[in-house]
Amino acid sequence: MRKTQLLAVLALAGLAAGASAQQQPKSASQAIDEYRAMLADGNPAELFEMKGEELWKQKRGPKNASLERCDLGKGAGVVKGAFVELPRYFADTGKVQDLETRLITCMESLQGLDAAAIAKTPFGKGEMANVTALATWVASQSRGMQFNLPQAHAQERTSYEAGKRLFFMRGGTHDFSCASCHGEDGKRIRLQDLPNLTKNPGDGVGFAAWPAYRVSNGQMWSMQLRLNDCYRQQRFPYPEFGSDALTALSTYLGVNAKGAKSAAPTIKR
Ligand code: HEC
Repeated sequence: MRKTQLLAVLALAGLAAGASAQQQPKSASQAIDEYRAMLADGNPAELFEMKGEELWKQKRGPKNASLERCDLGKGAGVVKGAFVELPRYFADTGKVQDLETRLITCMESLQGLDAAAIAKTPFGKGEMANVTALATWVASQSRGMQFNLPQAHAQERTSYEAGKRLFFMRGGTHDFSCASCHGEDGKRIRLQDLPNLTKNPGDGVGFAAWPAYRVSNGQMWSMQLRLNDCYRQQRFPYPEFGSDALTALSTYLGVNAKGAKSAAPTIKR
């Protein structure tokens, strides 16, 4: 049996056990927590971590170079601890960048790949799938470290303020904002707890949890895709991949998460 099939069987068994324990009824969220704990033992995200590490070291692209000299904010080639300080300002591009857009900058400058073409590639396809794998590996190298996004540069502070406005901006057919679902403690939709993202929601929750492997669709999701899907939940057109709006939202969430320990890559429903 393949690893993913085995996981699915285990997950079903776990949920069924949770549901049939009638003597001591478990709350739905307890059952889900147990199911997550079981899955975390064999998180398929590990496969993406491995692919990401290989891609980082592999000579690729028109310039036949690896990404090992990529500066993710802590100096050329420093990977450990980079994830918990992103998004941040980069002097060479003159922009605040998140992990994914920064990786694409390096893919262009070091390897000669076409950044604009990558940004237009759908999630899960071609070089975009490679960006997600790279982000998964880079994130894994900061596991257990505390979020501490820099806010010293004026553009970093502007990005935070813009992200905050976007978070509270209502719109769409339901007049929702991010805050409608993520602005208070203790909210949930059906079985899913909705973390309060206006503050530090805790270790390994919210911003501190993505990239994550989604069991429901068997895919590795990066933060950009996570945010897109929440725009969909908001019934709102989603911003383009790598847009300043998404970076700003990530800056807002990341600064709020200050002190939370990163658990990324995690496994999610
Ligand atoms: C209609 C309600 C709704 C709106 C509006 C919404 N979300 Fe979400 N969000 C959810 C749900 C539901 C989940 C959990 C999804 C799941 O488990 O499948 C979630 C999950 C998340 C997560 C991951 C939390 C975790 O711990 O895994 C983040 C981050 C997030 N949303 C950010 C946002 C942002 C930013 C916005 C505004 C652009 C937003 N959401 C708008 C419902 C919403």
